[in-house]
Amino acid sequence: MPDLEAHFERTIERDQRVEPRDWVPEGYRKTMIRQIAQHAHSEIIGMQPEGNWITRAPSLRRKAILLAKVQDEAGHGLYLYSAAETLGTDRAELTEKLITGGQKYSSIFNYPTLTFADVGVIGWLVDGAAICNQVPLCRSSYGPYARAMIRICKEESFHQRQGYELLMTMMKGTRQQREMVQDAVNRWWWPSLMMFGPPDADSPNTAQSMAWKVKRHTNDELRQRFVDMSVPQADALGVRLPDPELSWNASREHYDFGALDWDEFKNVLKGNGPCNAQRIAHRRRAHEEGAWVREAAVAHAAKKEVSA
Ligand code: 3HC
Repeated sequence: MPDLEAHFERTIERDQRVEPRDWVPEGYRKTMIRQIAQHAHSEIIGMQPEGNWITRAPSLRRKAILLAKVQDEAGHGLYLYSAAETLGTDRAELTEKLITGGQKYSSIFNYPTLTFADVGVIGWLVDGAAICNQVPLCRSSYGPYARAMIRICKEESFHQRQGYELLMTMMKGTRQQREMVQDAVNRWWWPSLMMFGPPDADSPNTAQSMAWKVKRHTNDELRQRFVDMSVPQADALGVRLPDPELSWNASREHYDFGALDWDEFKNVLKGNGPCNAQRIAHRRRAHEEGAWVREAAVAHAAKKEVSA
């Protein structure tokens, strides 16, 4: 085993990619399955908040854009389940864990989308936060995950841009439309900061994930990067971010910002967010109603095998 372990360590040290055929420590396999599966679950559950507005989009153009985006998220989920399966797990098992609460998905998707401005703010802030988090993951040490991120990040850029453009349009609209945007920003700003995970001091996985180059930056580093990126964008949009402590710190060359409500974060992770039960019930129903499709595909594949 020492040679295999030495080979793994050298691969990480040299910033090379670990591939499915390589030996890896059990802890590495476990944390990669954990992170990739929860990332995939987030993409799939993330379809619900925005999918809620597809039938009520204000124009054909907005409906087409939203349809494309939600479809992209489904593809990201399938991509990531495929990456997780290279580690010896199975998407049926992972879906079961999601539905029974055995695995997590991003806290952000447990908040309701109350107006169409939420679709724009999700694109701008939630997909913007995802880009901040996912671009470094293109250099994650596990090959299939890093490669999936490259394709996903390209599509996330479209997601972020369409959201920001929608908000720019609304901010040039009526007073009511501008108020809708500000209301959505007020509701989504702090939950978007929570997407980056708990403070580094309370993150049980970060140290090891950084050592194995699964993660390339810590939660707090990426959160800070996102705040620094978002403040000028909010100024250009003409909206106020709901944080009275937000201010440029010239000595740090970063924006200082207020304290997050970590009790709210923990509560949402415990399943007590505004939409947790609804999101899981919807996912469970879709899984159950889709069982016949999976059974038909398996039967068809078996028939093909017999006739081959
Ligand atoms: N929501 C739910 N759970 C969260 C969370 C969040 N926002 N942040 C952290 N957690 C969980 C972690 O999963 C971990 O629990 P676990 O050990 O049971 O998995 C626990 O809280 C402690 O957090 P850590 O910081 O120790 O965990 P990680 O090192 O895994 O860091 C992470 C958390 C930053 C989310 C990291 O897993 C990561 O970068 N994941 C990949 C990116 C991702 O999953 N993004 C989710 C959003 S996907 C998306 O936005 C789609 C886009 O199209 C909009």
